[in-house]
Amino acid sequence: EGELHTLRLMVNGSDKGFRKNLAAYMQPSQEGWKVNSTLVGLIRKDILHFLDAERDVSVIKSSFKPGDTIHYVLDRRRTLNVSHALHSLLPEVSPLKNKRFKTCAVVGNSGVLLKSGCGKEIDSHDFVIRCNLAPLAEFAEDVGIRSDFTTMNPSVIQRVYGGLSNETLRERFVQRLRLLNDSVLWIPAFMVKGGEKHVEGVNELILKRKLPVRMAYPSLRLVHAVRGYWLTNKVNIKRPSTGLLMYTMATRFCDEIHLYGFWPFPKDGRGNLVKYHYYDMLKYRYFSNASPHRMPLEFKTLKLLHSKGALKLTTSKCR
Ligand code: CTP
Repeated sequence: EGELHTLRLMVNGSDKGFRKNLAAYMQPSQEGWKVNSTLVGLIRKDILHFLDAERDVSVIKSSFKPGDTIHYVLDRRRTLNVSHALHSLLPEVSPLKNKRFKTCAVVGNSGVLLKSGCGKEIDSHDFVIRCNLAPLAEFAEDVGIRSDFTTMNPSVIQRVYGGLSNETLRERFVQRLRLLNDSVLWIPAFMVKGGEKHVEGVNELILKRKLPVRMAYPSLRLVHAVRGYWLTNKVNIKRPSTGLLMYTMATRFCDEIHLYGFWPFPKDGRGNLVKYHYYDMLKYRYFSNASPHRMPLEFKTLKLLHSKGALKLTTSKCR
């Protein structure tokens, strides 16, 4: 409890001050890092008061019938009808039921992974979580190739797969999904209106092509619960990033959590430019107040947890 209390005090405050020389200041030290199992246990227990990843990772089939109405989590006035395709893909039980892993990797998408040589290390963890269907094969040396759990925001369909509007695009998407084999594909389908036709397109394609991927769609309470947990620890995050959501969920079933590809800053500790994503030309958007995410604040929090042995944050080369 003492250590958690320190966490509450230390991450409190604005993230403006540390923007100066922040890259050098933000670099987590890798020397002598050791997991603090007592703290890991305390954090797990604390988070369990707000959410239980086993349950909140996905809604399940028995909770809905086709035709049911769902209110969007972040826009309660708008609704979505549960389609037959969606309903038939809902898991019967939680895809994380009774799961427990010694070590897990949560892989963010920062360009800091480029030239890291972290691929082997990432793939060596017992459970690997990745975000937004990021490309792997051509970056395998730095990011690895295995994935047990992959998230995909509906916006990826528009941005990367042209809204699946022709056969070539659909084929490219199907090829990417085939790489997932029968691992979990997690789509936050009930957050905000806008992506529903993409989600429906994905669902129909998965059914039509009989892809073995196992679907998960986060519960309606997940985001509020995660935000609630961090808020009671005085970390005021309006809308947790996918990476933070994954770390928070992973505390439920991982004894040691290793984070890679988390670096929401345009320069590294030595002043070299760092791409926002390791695989595309997307620009940094997270320094303005208009952005929904507060990744620098999230990072500061994760760095503190790293220094206490609650998680391991790797932002440099792997040996
Ligand atoms: N991330 C990071 N630094 C970056 C880019 C990403 O720390 N430069 C982390 C964030 O936690 C982010 C996760 O990696 O949620 C996955 O990255 P990305 O696919 O870019 O997520 P976004 O689309 O930016 O954010 P979200 O999906 O959370 O809306």
